[in-house]
Amino acid sequence: MNVALHLFGFGQVGESFFHMVQDRLANYSQIRFQTVFRSRSWSRGSCLEKKNPEFAKDRPDPVEWIESLNQRELHIFIDATAETGMLDLIQRALELNHVVISANKKPLCEPYEKVTKLYDSILKQRMRIESTVGAGLPVLHQLLTLHELGEKIHSIQGVVSGTLAYLCSGLNQGNDFSSLVKTAHKLGYTEPDPREDLGGDDVLRKGLILSRLLGWSREKSDVEFEPFFSCEQGVSVHEFMDSLNGRSIGLDLPICYGLNLSKEGCKVGFFSPEQSSFLRGSGENNRVLFFTDIYKPYLLLEGPGAGREITALGLFHDMLSAIQSMGKERN
Ligand SMILES: NC(=O)c1ccc[n+]([C@@H]2O[C@H](COP(=O)([O-])OP(=O)(O)OC[C@H]3O[C@@H](n4cnc5c(N)ncnc54)[C@H](OP(=O)(O)O)[C@@H]3O)[C@@H](O)[C@H]2O)c1
Repeated sequence: MNVALHLFGFGQVGESFFHMVQDRLANYSQIRFQTVFRSRSWSRGSCLEKKNPEFAKDRPDPVEWIESLNQRELHIFIDATAETGMLDLIQRALELNHVVISANKKPLCEPYEKVTKLYDSILKQRMRIESTVGAGLPVLHQLLTLHELGEKIHSIQGVVSGTLAYLCSGLNQGNDFSSLVKTAHKLGYTEPDPREDLGGDDVLRKGLILSRLLGWSREKSDVEFEPFFSCEQGVSVHEFMDSLNGRSIGLDLPICYGLNLSKEGCKVGFFSPEQSSFLRGSGENNRVLFFTDIYKPYLLLEGPGAGREITALGLFHDMLSAIQSMGKERN
């Protein structure tokens, strides 16, 4: 089976994924990159055999271009952008029976009515989104496995932002807030705009995705939400980062920030000192607790939940699982 990969986004995560596939699948000639799209340019064909592909400006509109693909190959679309606008392309790719893999939470958090089909495709594993929650940590794999086993999930609690885990851990050790934010940005832990992490929006999106996968079709406005830090808007990322110099978080330490969701509701904010004593990890580690019928007191997943390479690894895992299961379907 020939597999054509179409990567959208060649930033921190996209470029890591590209090199991971090149390095680890060098011997699999039937799996190859056919196109890589950036915001205003693209690269294709034999250019993509190079380590540093060149990008040309004659980028077509992907929603029109997708209609021209050869239907005899398996096409896998990988979304490594942070754009809500990817939704149209994802929907069309699924309609055409292609596979979609995504690290991008934004399209999944559009009003539920608009994206019901995306969630159906995730449950059928036509779309895979492991990297959206916990980066390379198999949080969604675990959730879907429990669901398949018929094991009732009563609630999920967790620290699901690598950036905020890193900041809380650093602040709890007495380090300076603005230096921590700058380091997290440099290490590739933060979203392209770090305000999305600092405001708590990224955790809110993860709460929404987990809720919807559990069949609790919530909207953003249903989430009880307490921001992590009140961020200045209307200035550039650079100006915002500069404005943090000398600022403190202004909270009593130790702190721990995350989500707590069940059928009754979803809360995103600071945990109480009692809860935070078992949710606090170290460094950028995520800790996710599943409370179910049989796992007593809970099932715990812990590990690094941010960073370009670990996120790329989550995409890589989704891609290989998709190829394996499509191979079985076709045999
Ligand atoms: N970093 C992490 O630890 C982490 C963890 C989990 C999930 N994620 C998710 O991974 C995604 C990517 O994050 P990142 O840090 O790699 O972002 P990034 O470095 O800002 O890269 C974003 C890329 O998307 C491209 N892009 C923007 N609009 C596009 C469009 N319409 N079509 C095609 N490409 C487009 C940009 O193109 P240009 O090159 O032209 O600007 C850029 O290459 C985000 O959704 C993020 O939430 C990241």
